[in-house]
Amino acid sequence: MSAQIGVTGLAVMGANLARNLARNGFTVALHNRSVAKTDALLEKHSGDGEFIRTETLQELVDSLEKPRRVLIMVKAGGPVDSVIDQLVPLLEPGDIVIDGGNSHFQDTRRREAALAKKDLHFVGIGVSGGEEGALNGPSIMPGGSKESYAALGPLLEKISAHVDGKPCCAWIGTDGAGHFVKMVHNGIEYADMQVIGEAFDLLRSGAGIEPAEQAKIFTEWNQTELASFLIEITAEVLGHTDARTGKPFVDVVVDAAGQKGTGRWTVISALELGSPTSGIAESVFARALSSQAAQRAEAQEKLAGHEEKIAVGEGFVDDVRQALFASKLVSYAQGLDMLTGAAKEYSWDLRLDEIAGLWRGGCIIRAELLKDITKAYSAQEEPANLLFAPAFSEAIAGALPAWRRVVATAVQLGIPVPVFSSSLAYYDGLRRKRLPAALTQGLRDLFGAHTYHRVDDDGTFHTLWGEDKSEIVAEDTH
Ligand code: 6PG
Repeated sequence: MSAQIGVTGLAVMGANLARNLARNGFTVALHNRSVAKTDALLEKHSGDGEFIRTETLQELVDSLEKPRRVLIMVKAGGPVDSVIDQLVPLLEPGDIVIDGGNSHFQDTRRREAALAKKDLHFVGIGVSGGEEGALNGPSIMPGGSKESYAALGPLLEKISAHVDGKPCCAWIGTDGAGHFVKMVHNGIEYADMQVIGEAFDLLRSGAGIEPAEQAKIFTEWNQTELASFLIEITAEVLGHTDARTGKPFVDVVVDAAGQKGTGRWTVISALELGSPTSGIAESVFARALSSQAAQRAEAQEKLAGHEEKIAVGEGFVDDVRQALFASKLVSYAQGLDMLTGAAKEYSWDLRLDEIAGLWRGGCIIRAELLKDITKAYSAQEEPANLLFAPAFSEAIAGALPAWRRVVATAVQLGIPVPVFSSSLAYYDGLRRKRLPAALTQGLRDLFGAHTYHRVDDDGTFHTLWGEDKSEIVAEDTH
Protein backbone atom coordinates (compact mmCIF):
# COMPACT_ATOMS: atom_id res chain seq x y z
CA MET A 1 0.00 0.00 0.00
CA SER A 2 1.32 3.45 -0.79
CA ALA A 3 0.31 6.72 0.78
CA GLN A 4 -1.34 9.62 -1.00
CA ILE A 5 0.49 12.18 1.09
CA GLY A 6 3.38 12.27 3.54
CA VAL A 7 3.66 14.59 6.50
CA THR A 8 6.99 15.41 8.07
CA GLY A 9 6.96 17.35 11.33
CA LEU A 10 4.41 16.02 13.76
CA ALA A 11 4.11 18.80 16.32
CA VAL A 12 0.50 19.77 17.02
CA MET A 13 -0.30 21.41 13.66
CA GLY A 14 1.40 18.67 11.61
CA ALA A 15 -0.14 15.89 13.67
CA ASN A 16 -3.61 17.38 13.42
CA LEU A 17 -3.39 17.92 9.67
CA ALA A 18 -2.18 14.33 9.26
CA ARG A 19 -5.11 13.08 11.35
CA ASN A 20 -7.54 15.27 9.40
CA LEU A 21 -6.22 13.80 6.12
CA ALA A 22 -6.55 10.26 7.47
CA ARG A 23 -10.06 10.91 8.77
CA ASN A 24 -10.98 12.03 5.27
CA GLY A 25 -9.93 8.73 3.80
CA PHE A 26 -6.41 9.47 2.63
CA THR A 27 -3.54 7.17 3.48
CA VAL A 28 -0.95 9.30 5.24
CA ALA A 29 2.72 8.49 5.65
CA LEU A 30 4.11 9.91 8.87
CA HIS A 31 7.60 11.14 9.59
CA ASN A 32 9.18 13.04 12.40
CA ARG A 33 12.80 13.73 13.29
CA SER A 34 12.31 11.88 16.55
CA VAL A 35 10.39 8.67 15.95
CA ALA A 36 8.86 8.90 19.42
CA LYS A 37 6.42 11.57 18.18
CA THR A 38 5.34 9.39 15.27
CA ASP A 39 4.75 6.48 17.61
CA ALA A 40 2.85 8.63 20.07
CA LEU A 41 0.52 9.76 17.30
CA LEU A 42 0.01 6.21 16.09
CA GLU A 43 -0.61 4.92 19.58
CA LYS A 44 -3.30 7.48 20.32
CA HIS A 45 -4.89 8.07 16.97
CA SER A 46 -4.42 5.08 14.69
CA GLY A 47 -8.22 4.80 14.68
CA ASP A 48 -8.43 8.01 12.61
CA GLY A 49 -7.59 6.15 9.41
CA GLU A 50 -4.74 4.67 7.39
CA PHE A 51 -1.24 5.69 8.44
CA ILE A 52 2.16 4.44 7.29
CA ARG A 53 4.91 4.74 9.88
CA THR A 54 8.31 5.79 8.55
CA GLU A 55 11.56 6.46 10.32
CA THR A 56 13.58 8.28 7.67
CA LEU A 57 12.83 10.74 4.90
CA GLN A 58 13.91 8.07 2.42
CA GLU A 59 11.28 5.72 3.83
CA LEU A 60 8.73 8.51 3.72
CA VAL A 61 9.48 9.22 0.07
CA ASP A 62 9.46 5.51 -0.80
CA SER A 63 6.03 5.08 0.75
CA LEU A 64 4.33 7.67 -1.47
CA GLU A 65 2.40 7.26 -4.69
CA LYS A 66 3.55 9.44 -7.60
CA PRO A 67 3.62 12.33 -8.06
CA ARG A 68 4.67 12.39 -4.44
CA ARG A 69 3.12 14.92 -2.12
CA VAL A 70 5.19 15.76 0.95
CA LEU A 71 3.81 18.20 3.49
CA ILE A 72 6.45 19.89 5.63
CA MET A 73 5.14 21.04 9.00
CA VAL A 74 8.21 22.36 10.77
CA LYS A 75 9.04 25.77 12.23
CA ALA A 76 9.19 28.55 9.64
CA GLY A 77 12.63 29.75 8.57
CA GLY A 78 15.82 27.67 8.65
CA PRO A 79 14.15 24.38 9.62
CA VAL A 80 12.03 24.46 6.42
CA ASP A 81 15.14 24.97 4.26
CA SER A 82 16.91 22.19 6.08
CA VAL A 83 14.08 19.69 5.45
CA ILE A 84 13.86 20.79 1.80
CA ASP A 85 17.61 20.25 1.39
CA GLN A 86 17.34 16.71 2.74
CA LEU A 87 14.21 15.93 0.77
CA VAL A 88 15.04 17.24 -2.68
CA PRO A 89 17.74 14.65 -3.58
CA LEU A 90 15.23 11.91 -2.80
CA LEU A 91 12.49 13.22 -5.11
CA GLU A 92 11.73 12.92 -8.81
CA PRO A 93 10.54 15.49 -11.35
CA GLY A 94 6.87 16.28 -10.89
CA ASP A 95 6.85 15.63 -7.13
CA ILE A 96 5.25 18.24 -4.90
CA VAL A 97 6.81 19.69 -1.77
CA ILE A 98 4.36 21.55 0.42
CA ASP A 99 5.13 23.96 3.24
CA GLY A 100 2.18 24.36 5.59
CA GLY A 101 3.85 26.62 8.14
CA ASN A 102 3.59 30.38 8.57
CA SER A 103 6.50 31.01 6.23
CA HIS A 104 7.40 34.41 4.87
CA PHE A 105 6.11 34.71 1.33
CA GLN A 106 9.51 35.83 0.02
CA ASP A 107 11.04 32.60 1.35
CA THR A 108 8.28 30.72 -0.45
CA ARG A 109 9.00 32.56 -3.69
CA ARG A 110 12.70 31.77 -3.37
CA ARG A 111 12.04 28.10 -2.61
CA GLU A 112 9.52 27.77 -5.41
CA ALA A 113 11.99 29.19 -7.93
CA ALA A 114 14.80 26.92 -6.68
CA LEU A 115 12.69 23.76 -6.83
CA ALA A 116 11.19 24.66 -10.20
CA LYS A 117 14.74 24.50 -11.59
CA LYS A 118 14.79 20.86 -10.50
CA ASP A 119 11.36 20.20 -12.05
CA LEU A 120 9.83 19.93 -8.59
CA HIS A 121 6.71 21.78 -7.48
CA PHE A 122 6.84 23.83 -4.31
CA VAL A 123 3.52 24.84 -2.79
CA GLY A 124 3.34 27.27 0.12
CA ILE A 125 0.04 26.86 1.88
CA GLY A 126 -1.35 29.24 4.47
CA VAL A 127 -3.30 27.26 7.05
CA SER A 128 -5.52 29.07 9.48
CA GLY A 129 -7.65 27.89 12.33
CA GLY A 130 -5.15 26.89 14.96
CA GLU A 131 -4.90 23.38 16.31
CA GLU A 132 -8.62 22.80 16.33
CA GLY A 133 -8.99 23.98 12.73
CA ALA A 134 -6.11 21.80 11.54
CA LEU A 135 -7.92 18.77 12.91
CA ASN A 136 -11.50 19.57 12.03
CA GLY A 137 -11.27 21.79 8.98
CA PRO A 138 -8.99 24.77 8.51
CA SER A 139 -9.10 27.53 5.96
CA ILE A 140 -6.35 26.80 3.44
CA MET A 141 -4.58 29.25 1.15
CA PRO A 142 -2.36 27.40 -1.34
CA GLY A 143 0.11 29.14 -3.63
CA GLY A 144 2.19 27.47 -6.33
CA SER A 145 1.87 26.24 -9.87
CA LYS A 146 -1.64 25.55 -11.18
CA GLU A 147 -0.43 22.13 -12.24
CA SER A 148 0.51 21.21 -8.68
CA TYR A 149 -2.89 22.39 -7.49
CA ALA A 150 -4.56 19.93 -9.81
CA ALA A 151 -2.74 17.12 -7.98
CA LEU A 152 -2.99 18.55 -4.48
CA GLY A 153 -6.13 20.70 -4.44
CA PRO A 154 -8.65 17.85 -4.10
CA LEU A 155 -6.97 16.63 -0.89
CA LEU A 156 -6.75 20.09 0.59
CA GLU A 157 -10.31 20.98 -0.36
CA LYS A 158 -11.58 17.81 1.24
CA ILE A 159 -9.93 18.46 4.61
CA SER A 160 -10.73 22.17 4.71
CA ALA A 161 -13.68 23.77 6.46
CA HIS A 162 -16.80 24.09 4.31
CA VAL A 163 -19.33 26.90 4.25
CA ASP A 164 -22.59 26.52 2.34
CA GLY A 165 -21.12 23.35 0.85
CA LYS A 166 -18.07 25.17 -0.53
CA PRO A 167 -14.56 24.32 0.62
CA CYS A 168 -12.63 27.07 2.40
CA CYS A 169 -9.69 26.34 0.14
CA ALA A 170 -8.95 27.54 -3.37
CA TRP A 171 -5.85 28.08 -5.47
CA ILE A 172 -4.62 31.56 -4.62
CA GLY A 173 -1.88 32.18 -7.15
CA THR A 174 1.66 31.33 -8.08
CA ASP A 175 4.72 31.00 -5.82
CA GLY A 176 4.28 32.93 -2.54
CA ALA A 177 0.68 34.07 -3.10
CA GLY A 178 -0.80 31.64 -0.57
CA HIS A 179 1.58 32.60 2.19
CA PHE A 180 1.12 36.26 1.35
CA VAL A 181 -2.65 35.99 1.70
CA LYS A 182 -2.24 34.07 4.97
CA MET A 183 0.07 36.82 6.21
CA VAL A 184 -2.53 39.48 5.43
CA HIS A 185 -5.17 37.29 7.10
CA ASN A 186 -3.01 37.43 10.22
CA GLY A 187 -2.61 41.20 9.89
CA ILE A 188 -6.38 41.51 9.81
CA GLU A 189 -6.51 39.11 12.77
CA TYR A 190 -4.27 41.51 14.72
CA ALA A 191 -6.52 44.48 13.88
CA ASP A 192 -9.66 42.51 14.66
CA MET A 193 -8.33 41.63 18.10
CA GLN A 194 -7.10 45.15 18.75
CA VAL A 195 -10.49 46.75 17.98
CA ILE A 196 -12.13 44.22 20.27
CA GLY A 197 -9.59 45.19 22.94
CA GLU A 198 -10.34 48.88 22.43
CA ALA A 199 -14.07 48.22 22.79
CA PHE A 200 -13.40 46.26 25.99
CA ASP A 201 -11.28 49.10 27.40
CA LEU A 202 -13.91 51.72 26.51
CA LEU A 203 -16.70 49.71 28.10
CA ARG A 204 -14.65 49.08 31.23
CA SER A 205 -12.82 52.36 31.74
CA GLY A 206 -15.42 54.59 30.09
CA ALA A 207 -18.66 52.98 31.20
CA GLY A 208 -17.49 50.94 34.21
CA ILE A 209 -18.79 47.63 32.84
CA GLU A 210 -17.08 44.65 34.44
CA PRO A 211 -15.79 41.74 32.33
CA ALA A 212 -18.54 39.29 33.32
CA GLU A 213 -21.17 41.81 32.25
CA GLN A 214 -19.23 42.53 29.08
CA ALA A 215 -19.25 38.81 28.30
CA LYS A 216 -23.01 39.12 27.97
CA ILE A 217 -22.68 42.21 25.79
CA PHE A 218 -20.26 40.44 23.45
CA THR A 219 -22.58 37.46 23.30
CA GLU A 220 -25.36 39.83 22.21
CA TRP A 221 -23.07 41.51 19.73
CA ASN A 222 -22.38 38.11 18.28
CA GLN A 223 -25.98 38.12 17.08
CA THR A 224 -25.42 41.34 15.10
CA GLU A 225 -23.39 42.19 12.00
CA LEU A 226 -20.32 41.71 14.25
CA ALA A 227 -20.97 37.96 14.44
CA SER A 228 -17.61 36.24 14.24
CA PHE A 229 -15.35 33.69 15.87
CA LEU A 230 -13.27 36.35 17.60
CA ILE A 231 -16.34 38.07 19.14
CA GLU A 232 -17.60 34.67 20.26
CA ILE A 233 -14.37 33.76 22.03
CA THR A 234 -14.10 37.26 23.50
CA ALA A 235 -17.31 36.52 25.39
CA GLU A 236 -15.77 33.27 26.59
CA VAL A 237 -12.52 34.85 27.78
CA LEU A 238 -14.26 37.80 29.45
CA GLY A 239 -16.71 35.50 31.18
CA HIS A 240 -13.95 33.34 32.62
CA THR A 241 -13.10 33.64 36.33
CA ASP A 242 -9.63 32.83 37.57
CA ALA A 243 -9.86 29.77 39.79
CA ARG A 244 -6.95 30.80 41.99
CA THR A 245 -8.10 34.30 42.88
CA GLY A 246 -11.76 34.45 41.98
CA LYS A 247 -10.95 37.53 39.89
CA PRO A 248 -11.89 38.00 36.25
CA PHE A 249 -9.36 36.02 34.21
CA VAL A 250 -8.42 39.13 32.15
CA ASP A 251 -7.33 40.84 35.35
CA VAL A 252 -4.74 38.23 36.24
CA VAL A 253 -3.12 38.08 32.80
CA VAL A 254 -0.10 40.35 32.23
CA ASP A 255 -1.17 43.03 29.77
CA ALA A 256 1.73 42.57 27.36
CA ALA A 257 0.67 41.07 24.03
CA GLY A 258 3.05 38.67 22.32
CA GLN A 259 3.59 38.32 18.61
CA LYS A 260 5.28 35.73 16.50
CA GLY A 261 5.82 37.96 13.52
CA THR A 262 3.17 37.65 10.84
CA GLY A 263 1.50 40.96 11.83
CA ARG A 264 4.86 42.69 11.69
CA TRP A 265 5.56 41.12 8.29
CA THR A 266 2.21 42.41 7.02
CA VAL A 267 3.12 45.94 8.00
CA ILE A 268 6.63 45.74 6.57
CA SER A 269 5.16 44.47 3.34
CA ALA A 270 2.46 47.17 3.35
CA LEU A 271 5.18 49.80 3.72
CA GLU A 272 7.09 48.29 0.82
CA LEU A 273 3.96 48.31 -1.33
CA GLY A 274 3.01 51.84 -0.24
CA SER A 275 -0.29 50.46 0.97
CA PRO A 276 -2.05 52.50 3.70
CA THR A 277 -2.63 49.65 6.11
CA SER A 278 -2.83 51.88 9.18
CA GLY A 279 -5.20 49.76 11.28
CA ILE A 280 -2.97 46.70 11.07
CA ALA A 281 0.12 48.82 11.70
CA GLU A 282 -1.46 50.40 14.79
CA SER A 283 -2.36 46.93 16.06
CA VAL A 284 1.22 45.77 15.78
CA PHE A 285 2.45 48.94 17.49
CA ALA A 286 -0.18 48.55 20.21
CA ARG A 287 1.25 45.10 21.01
CA ALA A 288 4.76 46.57 21.01
CA LEU A 289 3.74 49.39 23.36
CA SER A 290 1.98 46.96 25.68
CA SER A 291 5.25 45.06 26.01
CA GLN A 292 7.33 48.06 27.07
CA ALA A 293 6.75 47.33 30.74
CA ALA A 294 9.52 49.49 32.17
CA GLN A 295 8.63 52.58 30.16
CA ARG A 296 4.95 52.15 30.92
CA ALA A 297 5.69 52.03 34.65
CA GLU A 298 7.82 55.16 34.43
CA ALA A 299 5.24 56.94 32.30
CA GLN A 300 2.58 56.36 34.93
CA GLU A 301 4.79 58.28 37.40
CA LYS A 302 6.03 60.99 35.11
CA LEU A 303 3.52 61.81 32.38
CA ALA A 304 0.44 63.95 32.93
CA GLY A 305 -2.95 62.83 31.65
CA HIS A 306 -5.36 65.76 32.01
CA GLU A 307 -8.23 63.46 31.22
CA GLU A 308 -11.68 65.00 31.35
CA LYS A 309 -14.06 63.49 33.81
CA ILE A 310 -17.02 63.12 31.53
CA ALA A 311 -19.80 60.68 32.12
CA VAL A 312 -20.72 58.58 29.13
CA GLY A 313 -24.32 58.67 28.00
CA GLU A 314 -26.96 56.00 27.71
CA GLY A 315 -26.23 55.02 24.18
CA PHE A 316 -22.50 54.55 24.77
CA VAL A 317 -22.49 50.77 24.59
CA ASP A 318 -24.27 50.78 21.28
CA ASP A 319 -22.02 53.56 20.01
CA VAL A 320 -19.00 51.38 20.83
CA ARG A 321 -20.55 48.50 18.94
CA GLN A 322 -20.98 50.65 15.87
CA ALA A 323 -17.48 52.11 16.14
CA LEU A 324 -16.11 48.60 16.48
CA PHE A 325 -17.91 47.50 13.35
CA ALA A 326 -16.80 50.52 11.32
CA SER A 327 -13.18 50.14 12.43
CA LYS A 328 -13.26 46.43 11.66
CA LEU A 329 -14.60 47.15 8.19
CA VAL A 330 -11.75 49.56 7.57
CA SER A 331 -9.19 46.93 8.61
CA TYR A 332 -10.66 44.46 6.13
CA ALA A 333 -10.76 47.17 3.46
CA GLN A 334 -7.11 48.00 4.09
CA GLY A 335 -6.03 44.36 4.10
CA LEU A 336 -7.86 43.65 0.86
CA ASP A 337 -6.49 46.81 -0.71
CA MET A 338 -3.05 45.59 0.19
CA LEU A 339 -3.80 42.35 -1.66
CA THR A 340 -4.70 44.38 -4.75
CA GLY A 341 -1.34 46.19 -4.49
CA ALA A 342 0.53 42.93 -4.01
CA ALA A 343 -1.21 41.31 -6.98
CA LYS A 344 0.20 44.05 -9.20
CA GLU A 345 3.63 43.97 -7.65
CA TYR A 346 4.10 40.21 -7.73
CA SER A 347 2.01 39.43 -10.85
CA TRP A 348 -0.60 37.39 -9.01
CA ASP A 349 -4.12 37.17 -10.27
CA LEU A 350 -5.68 37.36 -6.82
CA ARG A 351 -9.43 36.80 -6.75
CA LEU A 352 -10.70 38.80 -3.78
CA ASP A 353 -14.12 37.13 -3.91
CA GLU A 354 -12.51 33.70 -3.55
CA ILE A 355 -10.16 34.84 -0.84
CA ALA A 356 -12.99 36.41 1.18
CA GLY A 357 -14.98 33.24 0.53
CA LEU A 358 -12.33 30.92 1.92
CA TRP A 359 -11.99 33.12 5.01
CA ARG A 360 -15.66 32.51 5.77
CA GLY A 361 -14.96 29.27 7.62
CA GLY A 362 -12.16 27.55 9.49
CA CYS A 363 -9.91 30.54 10.00
CA ILE A 364 -9.46 32.89 12.93
CA ILE A 365 -11.06 35.90 11.21
CA ARG A 366 -14.13 33.97 10.08
CA ALA A 367 -17.08 36.30 10.33
CA GLU A 368 -20.56 36.87 8.98
CA LEU A 369 -19.27 40.02 7.37
CA LEU A 370 -17.20 37.95 4.93
CA LYS A 371 -20.35 36.76 3.24
CA ASP A 372 -21.12 40.32 2.16
CA ILE A 373 -17.47 40.95 1.32
CA THR A 374 -17.51 37.91 -0.95
CA LYS A 375 -20.67 39.23 -2.55
CA ALA A 376 -19.19 42.70 -3.01
CA TYR A 377 -16.20 41.29 -4.90
CA SER A 378 -18.35 38.95 -6.95
CA ALA A 379 -20.19 41.94 -8.42
CA GLN A 380 -19.62 42.52 -12.09
CA GLU A 381 -17.59 45.58 -11.30
CA GLU A 382 -15.24 44.95 -8.38
CA PRO A 383 -15.11 47.92 -6.02
CA ALA A 384 -11.73 49.67 -6.03
CA ASN A 385 -12.02 49.74 -2.25
CA LEU A 386 -14.25 47.52 -0.14
CA LEU A 387 -15.77 50.61 1.45
CA PHE A 388 -17.12 51.67 -1.95
CA ALA A 389 -19.39 48.64 -2.21
CA PRO A 390 -22.88 50.04 -1.59
CA ALA A 391 -23.59 47.65 1.31
CA PHE A 392 -20.51 48.90 3.13
CA SER A 393 -20.59 52.60 2.26
CA GLU A 394 -24.13 52.62 3.66
CA ALA A 395 -23.15 50.64 6.75
CA ILE A 396 -20.29 53.02 7.51
CA ALA A 397 -22.47 56.05 6.90
CA GLY A 398 -24.90 54.68 9.46
CA ALA A 399 -22.16 54.05 12.01
CA LEU A 400 -20.31 57.30 11.44
CA PRO A 401 -21.98 59.56 14.05
CA ALA A 402 -21.46 56.91 16.74
CA TRP A 403 -17.89 56.30 15.59
CA ARG A 404 -17.02 60.00 15.83
CA ARG A 405 -18.65 60.26 19.28
CA VAL A 406 -16.74 57.25 20.57
CA VAL A 407 -13.36 58.45 19.30
CA ALA A 408 -13.98 61.94 20.72
CA THR A 409 -15.04 60.48 24.08
CA ALA A 410 -12.03 58.16 24.17
CA VAL A 411 -9.72 61.11 23.57
CA GLN A 412 -11.37 63.12 26.34
CA LEU A 413 -11.17 60.22 28.75
CA GLY A 414 -7.57 59.43 27.86
CA ILE A 415 -8.40 55.89 26.70
CA PRO A 416 -6.07 54.90 23.86
CA VAL A 417 -7.98 53.74 20.81
CA PRO A 418 -5.30 53.59 18.11
CA VAL A 419 -7.27 51.51 15.63
CA PHE A 420 -10.68 53.13 16.21
CA SER A 421 -9.10 56.53 15.67
CA SER A 422 -6.66 55.70 12.87
CA SER A 423 -9.39 53.90 10.95
CA LEU A 424 -11.57 56.98 11.22
CA ALA A 425 -8.62 59.09 10.08
CA TYR A 426 -8.16 56.74 7.10
CA TYR A 427 -11.83 57.05 6.25
CA ASP A 428 -11.76 60.83 6.50
CA GLY A 429 -8.45 61.00 4.67
CA LEU A 430 -9.79 58.92 1.82
CA ARG A 431 -12.84 61.09 1.28
CA ARG A 432 -11.23 64.48 1.87
CA LYS A 433 -11.16 66.76 -1.13
CA ARG A 434 -7.85 68.44 -0.36
CA LEU A 435 -5.20 66.86 1.82
CA PRO A 436 -2.28 68.70 3.40
CA ALA A 437 -0.08 66.56 1.14
CA ALA A 438 0.06 69.66 -1.07
CA LEU A 439 1.93 71.45 1.69
CA THR A 440 4.23 68.43 2.13
CA GLN A 441 5.03 68.69 -1.58
CA GLY A 442 5.76 72.41 -1.21
CA LEU A 443 8.11 71.77 1.68
CA ARG A 444 9.87 68.95 -0.17
CA ASP A 445 10.30 71.20 -3.16
CA LEU A 446 11.75 74.00 -1.01
CA PHE A 447 14.29 71.98 0.93
CA GLY A 448 15.17 69.35 -1.62
CA ALA A 449 13.97 70.46 -5.08
CA HIS A 450 11.80 67.35 -5.13
CA THR A 451 9.38 68.97 -7.61
CA TYR A 452 5.58 68.97 -7.69
CA HIS A 453 2.62 68.72 -10.04
CA ARG A 454 0.08 71.53 -10.46
CA VAL A 455 -3.68 71.18 -10.25
CA ASP A 456 -4.10 73.33 -13.37
CA ASP A 457 -1.33 72.22 -15.71
CA ASP A 458 0.42 69.05 -16.87
CA GLY A 459 4.10 68.50 -16.25
CA THR A 460 6.48 68.69 -13.35
CA PHE A 461 7.51 71.93 -11.72
CA HIS A 462 10.00 73.41 -9.29
CA THR A 463 9.97 76.80 -7.64
CA LEU A 464 13.29 78.61 -7.37
CA TRP A 465 12.81 79.20 -3.64
CA GLY A 466 16.30 80.57 -3.03
CA GLU A 467 16.13 82.96 -5.97
CA ASP A 468 13.18 84.98 -7.22
CA LYS A 469 10.58 82.25 -6.44
CA SER A 470 9.72 81.91 -10.09
CA GLU A 471 8.55 78.53 -11.29
CA ILE A 472 10.40 76.38 -13.81
CA VAL A 473 9.52 73.20 -15.63
CA ALA A 474 11.58 70.44 -14.05
CA GLU A 475 12.54 66.82 -14.39
CA ASP A 476 10.22 64.68 -12.28
CA THR A 477 12.02 63.73 -9.08
CA HIS A 478 8.83 62.81 -7.29
C1 6PG B 1 -4.27 31.20 12.42
C2 6PG B 1 -3.42 32.04 13.33
C3 6PG B 1 -2.15 31.34 13.63
C4 6PG B 1 -1.50 31.90 14.85
C5 6PG B 1 -0.62 33.06 14.58
C6 6PG B 1 -0.83 34.23 15.48
O1 6PG B 1 -4.66 31.74 11.40
O2 6PG B 1 -4.53 30.06 12.75
O3 6PG B 1 -3.16 33.27 12.75
O4 6PG B 1 -1.39 31.34 12.48
O5 6PG B 1 -2.37 32.14 15.85
O6 6PG B 1 0.64 32.51 14.76
O7 6PG B 1 0.39 34.71 15.82
P1 6PG B 1 0.83 35.78 16.85
O8 6PG B 1 1.61 35.01 17.86
O9 6PG B 1 1.70 36.68 16.06
O10 6PG B 1 -0.34 36.46 17.47
